[in-house]
Amino acid sequence: MNLNKLKSKRIKVMEYSALSELLRVTAKPEIISMAGGLPAPEAFPFKIISALNNLVLKKHRSVSLQYGPTNGVLVLRGEIAKWLEERKMKVTSENIGITSGSQGGLDTLGKIFINEGDKIAVESPTYIGAIDAFTSYGPIYEEIKTDYDGVIPESLEKILKNKKVKFVYLVPTFQNPTGRTITWGRRKKIAKIIKKYHVLLVEDDPYNSLRYRGKPIDPIQTLVPENTIYLCTFSKVLAPGLRIGFYAAPKKLADLMVVAKQSVDLHTSSYGQYLAAEYLKTGDLKRHLPNILKIYRFRQEAMFEALEKYLPSGFFWTRPEGGMFVWVTGPKNFDSVKLYWQAIKNNIAYVPGTYFFTKQGEGKNTMRLNFTNVNEEQIDTAVKRLAKVIKNSL
Ligand SMILES: Cc1ncc(COP(=O)(O)O)c(C=O)c1O
Repeated sequence: MNLNKLKSKRIKVMEYSALSELLRVTAKPEIISMAGGLPAPEAFPFKIISALNNLVLKKHRSVSLQYGPTNGVLVLRGEIAKWLEERKMKVTSENIGITSGSQGGLDTLGKIFINEGDKIAVESPTYIGAIDAFTSYGPIYEEIKTDYDGVIPESLEKILKNKKVKFVYLVPTFQNPTGRTITWGRRKKIAKIIKKYHVLLVEDDPYNSLRYRGKPIDPIQTLVPENTIYLCTFSKVLAPGLRIGFYAAPKKLADLMVVAKQSVDLHTSSYGQYLAAEYLKTGDLKRHLPNILKIYRFRQEAMFEALEKYLPSGFFWTRPEGGMFVWVTGPKNFDSVKLYWQAIKNNIAYVPGTYFFTKQGEGKNTMRLNFTNVNEEQIDTAVKRLAKVIKNSL
């Protein structure tokens, strides 16, 4: 059997990932990795999950182990609708659907909307997992220009005015990879543009709860609910291993998501969904979240301090009020891809920024640093080593 001859065009596009090659080495125990986007194991609520396990089996019994509805179990959808009220979103369980991580939602959206050659607009840079999910459906990317306040509305308008775009994909709060948050003023402008051009907005918001300072900013969904599908997840506030994500969308779009999901996995784990539902219903999320925020706030501060202390002049970084990442930009001649193997030799890792751009060769002088899965001492050591490697290369 010649597997290569049997392969679809789609899998050939998906197969090669230069980034996976790079990241494979970060698993070595001697490496301090600021590369991944993982929550801290210390942030997992083991005791709570153990208690919820018993509760779910006692209260929901065999239903929690049985096949369930494709759009997700009603009790969880209802609890999520209540939770989203805190973000000023007016949705009911009818608008909510459960996906296998928000990654599952991204892939489903690609399946529904993208024919080969269709245009979609994304921030530059943007979340690599979204690029991977969408790319398998063969879109053409239109890159929206950004600055420290996130998406530049005029750049979005220029694209929508001149190109027929299927949807706009944004991570407005504590963006992956930059950590940046789109200001309220810009959110209002973006919402107006979305309405004016009758386009769909995909608002991906996994980091909303991870705010360490400052005041929350309402999602863009609150300004254009009829044009928005809002994606979120339990990965950052409970455990990513459970793979429970969700969306809030206008009813007709929510129904389409169900059609597309059905053939993929029938539904997301019933058991995991009941666990997540009880995590919200019992108030455990509210009680546990401060523990997570405390761990990450200290780590983020340690990251800022270390960057200030060690990085040479000519290097700048974002100072987000939450999330999991800091985005570092070096001088024009700095090449973070070339430097990567030097960093690995010194037992540290990061993600070269170029992988978060849809056009090749962009962002060579940038890198993404994660601060949630490394402790304060490791952060100091890793940034010190990184600075040494950088100084030797300049
Ligand atoms: C912007 C963004 N969207 C989606 C995801 C996927 O999250 P999950 O599938 O674990 O819900 C991530 C994960 O890091 C992310 O950063």
